[in-house]
Formats: sequence, C-alpha cells, structure tokens
Amino acid sequence: MEKLRIMSVFGTRPEAIKMAPLVRELAAREEMESICCVTAQHREMLDSVLSVFDLKPDRDLDIMTPRQTLSTITSKCLTGMDEAIDALKPDLILVHGDTSTTFAGALSAFYHRVPVGHVEAGLRTYDKYSPYPEEMNRKLVTQIADLYFCPTELNRENLRREAVTEGVFVTGNTVIDALKTTVRTDFAFAAEELNRLPCDRKKIILVTCHRRENYGRPMEDIMSALAHIARTHGEDVEMVYPVHLSPAVQECAKRHLSGIKNVHLIPPLAADEMHNLMARCYLVMTDSGGLQEEAPALGKPVLVLRRETERPEAVTAGTVKLAGVVREDIITMAEELIRDPEAYAAMAHAVNPYGDGNACRRIADAILWHFGRGEKPEDFRPQS
Ligand code: UD1
Ligand code: UDP
Repeated sequence: MEKLRIMSVFGTRPEAIKMAPLVRELAAREEMESICCVTAQHREMLDSVLSVFDLKPDRDLDIMTPRQTLSTITSKCLTGMDEAIDALKPDLILVHGDTSTTFAGALSAFYHRVPVGHVEAGLRTYDKYSPYPEEMNRKLVTQIADLYFCPTELNRENLRREAVTEGVFVTGNTVIDALKTTVRTDFAFAAEELNRLPCDRKKIILVTCHRRENYGRPMEDIMSALAHIARTHGEDVEMVYPVHLSPAVQECAKRHLSGIKNVHLIPPLAADEMHNLMARCYLVMTDSGGLQEEAPALGKPVLVLRRETERPEAVTAGTVKLAGVVREDIITMAEELIRDPEAYAAMAHAVNPYGDGNACRRIADAILWHFGRGEKPEDFRPQS
C-alpha cells in the first residue's frame, strides 16, 4: 500500500515547538511519509526551534520581513504554498493553532482540495479582537478543516457548540510531548548569566510579552508594572525576560526595563533553554499561550498579562490567574505571590490539564483511522 503523504505546515516559534514532536512521530510511522513545509513567518526564532529538535524542512517559504503586516504574511504564505503543494502532493495538510501561517496554510490546502487536520483545535475566547488576529484565524480554520485534534474536552465542547462533531478527537496538547523531551535536572544553560542565577536565594520571575492586542497602552502599562515590581523587590526578586524579536516589543521593553539591576533583558531563548529556565523559576508572568500550558505542568504559578484566556483549564485548576493589563492590578497580584507564602503555595502545584505526553501518538493514530488504516485512539483524559 502507498504511504500517506502528511504535510505539516508551520512558521512561528510556538507552532514549531508544538509540531516538532508530531513531525517526528509521523516520520516514525511506516504507513506515512512526513513532509515538512515551513513558511518562516518567524526567521531566527523558527530556526532556533528547528535546530533544537533537529528538523530539516522539505520546503522553506522564507516569507518574514521586518514589521510585517497581517496581509503580507497571509498573501506571501498563500503564494508560496501553491508551489509547495503542487510539488509535494500531500494527502493531508496539518496546520497548528491560530497564527496567520495557520490560516493561510489551511486556506491554501482548501484551494488545492487537500484535506486539513487542525492541531490544537477548538480554543475560543469569543472576542473577535482578542487575541487578535488569532481568535478569527482559528475560527476560520474550523470552517475549512476535516480533522480536529483538540487538546482538551472543553475544546471539543466549543466545537460541538458550533455544530462541528465529525472528525473531532481529544488528544492533549503536543506541547506537553515536547516538554517531556527538553526538561532535565542537570541542564546547563549556554549563557553563564543564567547558570549564575541565584535560584535558591532569590525569587526568579520569568517574563514574556508579545501579543499584538497588547501593543500600545496595554504593553506600556505591563512593562511599567514589571519595572515597579523589580525595583520594589530588588533584594529578593530577579526578573528574567527573553524579549521577543518584534521591534514593537523590543522598543517598549527596553524603554521601561533597561538598566534595572535585577532585570535580565536577554535575547529569545532556545526552546530547551526556556523550558529548563521555567522549571527553575519561582513565578511566570506572561501573555503567551504556550507558557500558560507549560508552566502548570512544571508546577509554576502563572499570572496572565491579558484580559481573557482561551485556556481556562489551568485557571480552574488554580495554578493560573488572569492579571489583566492594568498596571496596579498586575503589581497587586504579583506582590501577593512574592510576599505571601500561603498564596504562593496555593498556586504552586503541578497539574496537567493540557496533556499527558501522548498527544502525537493519538494524532498519528487518528490520521491512520481516518484513512481506514488503524484503530481509533482513546481520548486524552486528565488525571484528577
Ligand atoms: C506571531 C503570531 C502569534 C504568535 C506569535 C508567537 C500572527 C499574526 N501572530 O506573532 O499568533 O503568538 O507569533 O511568537 O500570526 N521577528 C524577527 N525575527 C523572528 C521573529 C519575528 O525579526 O524570528 C520580528 C519581525 O520584525 C516581524 C515581527 O517580529 O515582523 C513580528 O512577527 P509576526 O510573526 O508578524 O508577529 P508576532 O507578534 O511574532
Ligand atoms: N519560548 C522560547 N523562548 C523564548 C520564549 C518562549 O522557546 O524566549 C517558547 C515557550 O516555552 C513556548 C513557546 O515558545 O513553548 C511560546 O511561544 P510564544 O510565546 O512566542 O507564542 P504563543 O504561545 O503566545 O503563541
């Protein structure tokens, strides 16, 4: 029997981290040929992930430009995908999550009448403009897709409410599969600055921030809050902030946080470095989606620097809180966790609502089942 040609399409850092273990799983299946097409919506940040997970793309559309707009990302992806699909002739195209690469990848597959599998399907905030443009990207992909790999039961329920019930699987999130391969107790960082962090004497706060809907006033307020927290707690807090390469973010972070002695503004970290730093930190403050999934698995409390989240499972489990984007609220919530050991202990416990490390196996099994070549996988169910 001919091998199924499964083409994974991704372009940004988080997609790459979450698709890397899946690309490997597909390559290990003898019924499949795993093809990898990167748009390179991110360049350096994507290449770093490809290197950590030793992935060699079959196609690289190399679309990134400085300060790219949503339209240029989408149109360049669509044009590049035409040639890639014609040349590689996939039986199924996999896209991940909610980026512009995701939307353009799915749309292009549809234009070529190739079925689409949506990895990390069913997340919703029900606010068209937050996260922007991700909420709309993932809703549009829902309309196009044929297979839906939902991380959680709640995500499946979201799809059910939109009358999407065929081809839906609850698999867990592939990010937990990735995390299992990167975190080690004896990990040594490339930079001495990180090896020398006083993790046993001071509270290490790991920060990231990049969302487009936070550009402008919200991001100014977030950075101002972070500066206040670092200055006020100079004796017991060390803040580590690997700054996203977006010029809008770089400028804002440097303006507020440069020159504060207990703030480490550093370049983006490789995925394995980031995961191991998270495993050693005290608290995570972030507007990232991926960090909201990873930190709970590592037992680290998270304050989310957004007004809403499409990942309420860890909020329910008590390890993640929405801090919002108002300066005083962020300061109050962070200071509670810095000063009050009981409040901290109540949040600092490991939970795994997002996966058990077997998401990629379930997705590969579901694809084979869809093509009539295997058993239907069992659903992922978090342990209570
Ligand atoms: C994108 C995704 C967002 C995801 C985020 C993860 C869209 C619209 N947004 O947002 O969903 O959460 O990635 O990080 O798809 N840059 C570099 N080098 C890099 C990466 C980025 O220089 O390796 C700079 C470029 O100037 C680029 C800018 O960052 O124009 C912004 O990148 P872009 O992909 O447009 O948006 P993100 O905010 O990264
Ligand atoms: N990450 C990383 N290096 C960094 C910051 C983040 O490897 O300097 C990882 C992080 O651990 C997670 C993913 O990148 O796996 C999240 O990506 P990002 O925050 O850019 O996007 P989002 O998840 O918000 O879409």
